[in-house]
Amino acid sequence: MAPPPVALITGANGEIGRSLLERLHQEGRYRVVTLDLTPLPERFRPMCHETYAGNILDRYLLDQLAAHHEIEVVFHLAALLSTRGERDPDLAHQINVEGTLHLMRMAQQQSSRLGRPVRFILPSSIAVYGVPTLDAKAAQPRVREDQFLEPITMYGCNKLYCEHLGRYFMRHYRSVGASNNARLDFRAIRFPGLVSADTVPSGGTSDFGPEMLHAAAQGRPYQCFVGPDARLPFMAMPDAVRALLTLLDADRGALSLPSYNVGAFSLSAQEFADRVRRHFPDAAITFEPDAARARIVDSWPADVDDTQARADWGWSPIYDLDRAFDEYLVPAVRSRYAR
Ligand code: SER
Repeated sequence: MAPPPVALITGANGEIGRSLLERLHQEGRYRVVTLDLTPLPERFRPMCHETYAGNILDRYLLDQLAAHHEIEVVFHLAALLSTRGERDPDLAHQINVEGTLHLMRMAQQQSSRLGRPVRFILPSSIAVYGVPTLDAKAAQPRVREDQFLEPITMYGCNKLYCEHLGRYFMRHYRSVGASNNARLDFRAIRFPGLVSADTVPSGGTSDFGPEMLHAAAQGRPYQCFVGPDARLPFMAMPDAVRALLTLLDADRGALSLPSYNVGAFSLSAQEFADRVRRHFPDAAITFEPDAARARIVDSWPADVDDTQARADWGWSPIYDLDRAFDEYLVPAVRSRYAR
């Protein structure tokens, strides 16, 4: 029997990466090759066929990877998130755009070599949206994929452009001259703020939600960097991983968009704090907004319209607000910090 095909995960040591790795390992459908700047912790290594510690900007390393493995699927998760990106926009552009271009080029070469499209999965973000005012945010709480595409962060600009790059590679790459027997198959999801029970994000601007929860579970006080009214869509990490794998498996012919919204639940920072306090009554949460970070959150939509993902590939979250907290986040963070 032929061995399972190879899936490459970049940024495997990040929040989504670790959860995805565990899920792919359970399913056993792929031999997983990982690439991350930092070496994977010991416990994840047995889940991988091979692990590489290195930079996605290192083209030599990517060439080596492509030479050694017949990669059928790429989950390109490596990125610098929105707050970190505003501290160093040049670096964000290099990693988020140039790095993605390198990966797409590699996936394109693999597609030509294998004679079939390599599926290239990109987590995009609600950061691609730039809602101009709080009035507009309130008037249009659930944004569609084609609305408000004027991001105010480097990260948002990078993700929006990478969606275009993916569409270009899939439909138009080298349309003049060279013959292409196979182009890559690009699929992207615009994630809301993700909340995991296992990890705390770093460098993002939706981080106040997960930070609040993890601080409360550890009995630590938390100063929230946005005001109580700041509202965003959020999603529990298991749903995010399920969304990636469901989109991966969808029939190409059913996909009408290069990049899809996926929704789960929306809540304000105050409502997030109230939820956390319901389970951790001693949680000491105060609001001390940082103007720049609060402005970024204000520019992101309150919620997303995910009609198209539901229609095209059957998206539906398992974890609504109650289930996310009651059945996943709270029990899992409790046992995590009780250890
Ligand atoms: N969670 C990300 C951030 O806050 C958005 O995709 O930057």
